[in-house]
Amino acid sequence: MNPPPKLDLARLPTPLQPLDRLSEALGGPRIWIKRDDLTEAAGAGNKIRKLEFVLADALNQGATALITSGGLQSNHCRATALFAAQLGLQCHLILRGSETRTANGNLLLNQVLGAKIDYVSDEAFERLDELYERKVVQLSALGERPYRIPIGASDELGLWGYIQAVKELAADFTCAQIQPSCIVTAIGSGGTYAGLLLGQALYNLSLPVIGICVSRNAGFFERKTAMDTARWQTRFQSSLNPGPGQLRDDFVGEGYGLASPEVYRLIAWLAQLEGVILDPVYTGKAFQGLIEMIQQGDIQGTDVVFLHTGGLFGLFPQMSQRSLSELLA
Ligand SMILES: Cc1ncc(COP(=O)(O)O)c(C=O)c1O
Repeated sequence: MNPPPKLDLARLPTPLQPLDRLSEALGGPRIWIKRDDLTEAAGAGNKIRKLEFVLADALNQGATALITSGGLQSNHCRATALFAAQLGLQCHLILRGSETRTANGNLLLNQVLGAKIDYVSDEAFERLDELYERKVVQLSALGERPYRIPIGASDELGLWGYIQAVKELAADFTCAQIQPSCIVTAIGSGGTYAGLLLGQALYNLSLPVIGICVSRNAGFFERKTAMDTARWQTRFQSSLNPGPGQLRDDFVGEGYGLASPEVYRLIAWLAQLEGVILDPVYTGKAFQGLIEMIQQGDIQGTDVVFLHTGGLFGLFPQMSQRSLSELLA
């Protein structure tokens, strides 16, 4: 089965590195980290792999303006704003939240990159389809050719990013001579997880995926993954069934974007132990899941892989409001 056309935006392959000091400290399996935080484009993380396919389609359709949406500090929106600038396209963002006098993190980068932002309330964001539609009508009336990208670029084309990443992982494992028992990743909009499940099946790699939910519950993502997979099967006329996966929603904490002092302590510990920086919204919570599952004996085997999906700029808005010692307390 051939993947659809893609742009070459990411620096691939990303490194697969062992975290030996951490593994020794925990006394469990050897922990490897797949450095998708190093795909580049100002730390666009896992988003680039998905956008490579989505933006190839946008260009193919003659798009002149991209429209996408997410939270105020969405990594995906910022990555889209950056690639829009790189490709000479307009970028229109529908962000959930209110405008502030000063901006930080991804929001600041969106402004620097010249994205046109509509700030919308939680209530209005519930009717996201209407907001997209309105923007399409507005831009078309101005003679633009708008292209809609869903939250997280997790549509049938975006899924290909992590389907193809499985091929890369298979080569990494051959090179490192390992057969990891699982790969652990954060789940935000579900495209990374769903892509990895399909990739396992397509490339015959036994690599169960553990998805750590950072916002909604496991039931929501079961339905979302099933829907995205069904759409992918229809669009690419494939009967491929996803490989094994497991969803964990016990590390969400108080909610999306809200991290506990344990998560901040873990971020500081890993940074100091291994020089790897996580964020409090996605990778910090997923890493907490990995560590607790190892400690509780839920993860077996000699080697496990953590997918570092990026998100560095998510650290700054949180830390500009409280000091590190307050966050750790
Ligand atoms: C840094 C980071 N990690 C993980 C994820 C989750 O990826 P996905 O949206 O494909 O579930 C996201 C986005 O939602 C993210 O920004």
